Amino acid sequence: MRQLLTAIVVLGGLMLLVLIQFQPKVKNMTNKNNNGNMTVLIWLWPFGRRFNLRMCKSFYDIEGCFLTADRSLYNESDGVIIHHRDIDTDLSNLPQLQRPSSQKWIWMNFEPPTLLKQLPGIDSLFNLTLNYRQDADIEVPFGSLVAAASRDDFVLPSKNKLVCWIVSNWRKEYERVKYYKELHKHMKVHVHGEASGRRISREDYTSILTSCKFYLSFENSIHTDYITEKFFKPLSLGTVPVVLGPPRRNYERFIQGDAFIHVNDFDSPKELAEYLLLLDKDENAYLKYFEWRRHFRVVVEKHTSLKRSCLSCDYLRLHKEKKTFKLNKWFWEE
Ligand SMILES: *[C@@H]1O[C@H](CO)[C@@H](O)[C@H](O)[C@H]1NC(C)=O
Ligand SMILES: *[C@@H]1O[C@H](CO)[C@@H](O)[C@H](O)[C@H]1NC(C)=O
Ligand SMILES: *[C@@H]1O[C@H](CO)[C@@H](O)[C@H](O)[C@H]1NC(C)=O
Ligand SMILES: *[C@@H]1O[C@H](CO)[C@@H](O)[C@H](O)[C@H]1NC(C)=O
Repeated sequence: MRQLLTAIVVLGGLMLLVLIQFQPKVKNMTNKNNNGNMTVLIWLWPFGRRFNLRMCKSFYDIEGCFLTADRSLYNESDGVIIHHRDIDTDLSNLPQLQRPSSQKWIWMNFEPPTLLKQLPGIDSLFNLTLNYRQDADIEVPFGSLVAAASRDDFVLPSKNKLVCWIVSNWRKEYERVKYYKELHKHMKVHVHGEASGRRISREDYTSILTSCKFYLSFENSIHTDYITEKFFKPLSLGTVPVVLGPPRRNYERFIQGDAFIHVNDFDSPKELAEYLLLLDKDENAYLKYFEWRRHFRVVVEKHTSLKRSCLSCDYLRLHKEKKTFKLNKWFWEE
């Protein structure tokens, strides 16, 4: 009896020891996600360009994100970001491994549908969209308006030209090229950029934009929410954008209607030219296009791949529910 008791006590002690020994390991196992961090795997560097993966906290104040490009962490990744343009047409570039049941594949793309190849076989592969569209799961527009902390001490840059346009991709079938050809019959337009034979440096870009009263913010193709830095840049620099793109009400989801001029406001390029020439002579009417600056300022996206990845990570943390969507229908049949 005594021997049995001793044996039980000794055994119990041993078991306790074993339990204590194992406890940290058990904790480790349940906490596989990097001690509370979300792990987001960048499957392909967007356009082959690397970026610093450690800046979610310092740049955007987003905590709990572990971004990695190390594919050996695939099994532990909560999300995998896949950039559409970098997938091979044969899809061999996609992860070939079994997908963990809670992992989400994030379709990343910031190009408009017409400039993008629609790949067969990926229609129902992804869980989330990371895109410029407002109805994307993770929406990252090319720019946005934020409340000005204090009254903006904005001074209008001095202007010595009326209308400018910097254009690199010139194709005669583009809507914007057709419009320009008509417009310049009725007024002078200063055209710069590769299409006019010379690349523009960053400094020249800024000085050209600021020196003009109006800038042709003509998008290369017309799609919902496809409102790029061509619009946000001049806005931020103190130049009035003349837009060609989605309808006016789409732009007004980003900024108040009196901050820009839409080509559709006029029956013809000729009428637009007449209006711009009129504004050239009426300083007060021109200045009305800057009233919005009393309360807001424009943020043009920088560090974009990093920001997009950090926001994806933040989204994953807040949305644990399962999700899938049909890519072709969502993006190409909007
Ligand atoms: C468990 O966590 C400890 C400390 O947090 C760490 O040193 C160890 O590598 C982890 N083990 C595993 C298997 O993740
Ligand atoms: C979470 O990720 C951040 C950013 O990579 C890292 O600095 C931090 O050490 C990670 N935290 C833990 C607990 O692993
Ligand atoms: C990832 O998980 C799969 C099955 O779920 C397994 O076959 C594979 O060995 C794992 N890979 C690593 C690197 O752990
Ligand atoms: C992700 O999408 C795939 C393919 O549609 C689906 O099988 C899987 O259940 C989804 N996972 C989550 C976590 O939503």
